[in-house]
Amino acid sequence: MNKKLVEIRNLSTQFKKGANIHKAIEGITFDVYEGESLGIVGESGSGKTTLGRTILRLLTPFHGTIQFDGIDLSSMDAKQLRVWRKDFQMIFQNPYESLSPRLKVGEIIEEPMVIQKMLTPKERTNKVYEMLENVGLPKSAYQKTIHEFSGGQRQRVAIARALVMNPRLVIADEPVSALDVSVQAQILNLLKELQTEFNLTYIFISHDLSVVHHMSDRVGVLNKGHMLEIAAKNEIYQNPIHPYTKSLLASIPKVNPMMRGLEAEPVEVPPQPPYPPHLIDIGNDHYVAADVIEIQNYRMNKQVHKSES
Ligand SMILES: Nc1ncnc2c1ncn2[C@@H]1O[C@H](COP(=O)(O)OP(=O)(O)OP(=O)(O)O)[C@@H](O)[C@H]1O
Ligand SMILES: [Mg+2]
Repeated sequence: MNKKLVEIRNLSTQFKKGANIHKAIEGITFDVYEGESLGIVGESGSGKTTLGRTILRLLTPFHGTIQFDGIDLSSMDAKQLRVWRKDFQMIFQNPYESLSPRLKVGEIIEEPMVIQKMLTPKERTNKVYEMLENVGLPKSAYQKTIHEFSGGQRQRVAIARALVMNPRLVIADEPVSALDVSVQAQILNLLKELQTEFNLTYIFISHDLSVVHHMSDRVGVLNKGHMLEIAAKNEIYQNPIHPYTKSLLASIPKVNPMMRGLEAEPVEVPPQPPYPPHLIDIGNDHYVAADVIEIQNYRMNKQVHKSES
């Protein structure tokens, strides 16, 4: 296993809704290893975007810590964070909303370098052309505006802008869910190629289990702001433990051969407990929120399966 790039401990983010407090994420603990792609999956409203935005300190955590390469981001103020911003970037679901329609594509990609006062204007222009090539766009894209492009091309521009500062961590939040299915695979493959080329670490957020399967080395399952299970991809998809993970997997159409054989029945998910669940290490780097009896049952079932095979 590579070294830990991000260490998240007991992370919680809350929103005020009128007189009420809404705990969007609560008590989340996990690590991200350098060079890996960690998928975060969960239904709408489970807290995926809030988790991503909190890790990158676009939101202030209510509680908990975020260590990035040993540096504590959680307590930094805006000025201190500015120094670190170039090391972590986010790619959003809707590139049209996240990219300025008034600027030329070249300016959009150059902007982060201008903000960080990096390189000379000439060097920045060269860097923009280099990035356009990296993301598979022609040189002529430089002079165009974003509305002249298709959804897939816009996402390529967003990727170029995110990568132009040579970040170490990229959080991609539903980067293909606004795109046609035919274009999705192209963008996913581009993200994979760029990960290898630039030695990137990804947190890949999606509600789509087949997309997460395609992109991730490990997968974490979020439900109602809590992390319920986290393990290597094959562990999660072939050996899900938590009833919620089983139910989520059971909802995938069995068209993808990788998903066949998962016959779990959908189950009722219990209401959110008043406290965040505690993840238990069941071996094989597989962590699940479960009580002692559930873990015992799981271990017994495993023994039975072993003796039968
Ligand atoms: N800025 C905000 N102010 C108030 N509540 C918010 C805010 N952002 C998110 N929430 C609430 O926090 C919860 C988690 O939202 P979040 O957007 O993180 O979920 P998500 O898993 O990304 O959902 P989706 O799949 O729809 O993008 C939701 O109940 C949402 O209404
Ligand atoms: Mg979201």
